[in-house]
Order: sequence, then C-alpha cells, then structure tokens
Amino acid sequence: KNIALLAGGFTGEYEVSINSAQNIKANLDGSKYNVYTILITRDRWFYESEDRKIDVDKNDFSLALKGERIKFDFAFITVHGTPGEDGKLQGYFDMLDIPYNTCDATTSAITMNKAYTKAIVHGIHGLNTARSIQLFKTGIHEAANVVSSLKFPLFIKPNNGGSSVGMSKVQNVAGLHDAFERAFKEDDQILVEEFIKGREFSIGVARLKGHITVLPATEIISSKDFFDYEAKYTPGVSKEITPADLDAEMNEKIANIVTEVYLRLNCKGMVRIDFIILENTNDFYFIEINTTPGQSANSLVPQQVRAMGMDVGEFYGELIEGAM
Ligand code: DAL
Ligand code: MG
Repeated sequence: KNIALLAGGFTGEYEVSINSAQNIKANLDGSKYNVYTILITRDRWFYESEDRKIDVDKNDFSLALKGERIKFDFAFITVHGTPGEDGKLQGYFDMLDIPYNTCDATTSAITMNKAYTKAIVHGIHGLNTARSIQLFKTGIHEAANVVSSLKFPLFIKPNNGGSSVGMSKVQNVAGLHDAFERAFKEDDQILVEEFIKGREFSIGVARLKGHITVLPATEIISSKDFFDYEAKYTPGVSKEITPADLDAEMNEKIANIVTEVYLRLNCKGMVRIDFIILENTNDFYFIEINTTPGQSANSLVPQQVRAMGMDVGEFYGELIEGAM
C-alpha cells in the first residue's frame, strides 16, 4: 500500500509539521506500507528524491518517479493549520476518493475555528468554556470594548491558529494593542479569552479497531507564563506528566466528557483535546480540540500512546487501517 504522508503547510507551524512527519515515517519504517513524504507549500506540492524535487500531479495526486507512476491508497495528513487541519486538503481528497486519517472537511473546518468550536461545545452540550469575544480585522476592535466585557488576564489568540503562534497573555489594557497586532499578523480573526485558573491538561482520543479510545491524559506545567511555542517545543521548559496524576473518578469523568465531544463533533481518527480543571471546584473547562495534533517523538499524543503500552507505529497502522 502506498501512503502519502503530507507535511508542511502555510503557517508558522511548518517546522512542527516536518518534525511530526519525520516521527510518523520513522515509526512506519519496516511496516507493510510504502511511505512517501509529500511537502505541501504555497508554491509546490512535492516529493524530495535524493537531489530532486518532484511535483505531485494535482489532477489525481500521483507522482512520476523513476519512470513509474505512483498512485496513493491513503493520505496521512500531518499538516498543522491550513491547509491540512482546516478541511481544505480533506475536501480535495474527498473529491479524489482517496481516504485519509483525519476528521472530514466539515469537522476540520469548524474545529480549526476556536470560536465556532466553543460555541458548539458550550451551546449544544453545555460544557464550560472560558468567556471570550471574537474580533475581526475588518471590524471594530477597540481595547475599550474588550475591557468592558471581559476580566484580565486575557489570552489573545489567532482564531485559526495553533502551537500558540501569535498568541499573548495580557495582564492589563496597556498590553492589548501589541497583542492584537501580533495575533492579527497570523489571522484576520482573533479570539480574546479570559484566563482560567486551574490545572492544564491535554488528552488524545482515537478510534482504534472501531472503538473510541481515550488515551492517558497529560498534565502540563509550564515554567513560562503560559504554554507558549517555546514551552511547547523546547525540552525542559515545561513539565509534561503522562499519565497525569488524577484519581479514578476524575479520569472517568474526563473520559466521558471527551468521548462525548469526539462523538458530537463527528470526529474521525485521532484528535487531542486541551482542557483545564478549575481550581477549587474541579469543573472541566474545554479549551480547544486539535484535529491534527503534533506527532514529533516528544509530542503529547505519542507520549500518551507509549504510556498506554502501545507501540506508536502500531497506533499509526491502526489509524490507517481504520480509515482505509
Ligand atoms: N497544533 C499543534 C501541532 C498541536 O496541537 O499539537
Ligand atoms: Mg492547538
């Protein structure tokens, strides 16, 4: 079986995606799949063979390699952000009838948008989410509006972003202007969200052999002000405890909630849900869902798969088989 492993993308998460692809490929080496890494950039979609870059034929997503035409049985998308996490590549592969590992185009598009996802999760399922407002580049985003409706500290995030690229934590009104600029550089919509004080966690959920499997949760303790890009990707800057120290009752409550979120958002394959357990009350606060979670060797999902006692290559193999 020929697998196209898609990496790269158009955002500040390009490097993260390359690292994800390297780890996925390393774990699938020696398996029954022939894995070809295809880089997706704004200019070209290509496979790198020794010293040459060979463009993919976008009409049928095939590759002319050494006088042979390679067609793909499966697309393993590990592009974070657009166009791999927001439904664009998913829609393209739907049109070509090539199966892929992620949520479908609609779910990917909705869940890439943090504000819309919160509206669904909160509105339909009543889960707690941090109070927030969405601002548009073209609309009014005066600091005064923000201050009057929300309480500091605030997180300012690109609404369709990932890996905390363009994100700031702001303590008072003086910091808003720069934070808006930083976020609007990444996106034409931003989310202004209240800080939730509590313990921070992230948990993978995947359909394996037809069953929704909740992976062991990870607790994140950042030594920085928040779990920013540096804290996420520089070893030692944050402590990631997998499996998290939670009692059986809490683990069960979390598993029920994230399974419900997975089902109601019509998720496919593997996703990772970020949440906070509120100080004092132990209430669950949904932060966001990542439908193309990072897969570098040290990323959270691979950590959680290992903590479950499963081989990471076998996990990827199950995802492929389940979606084929
Ligand atoms: N957006 C990054 C890759 C993650 O969620 O893991
Ligand atoms: Mg994210």
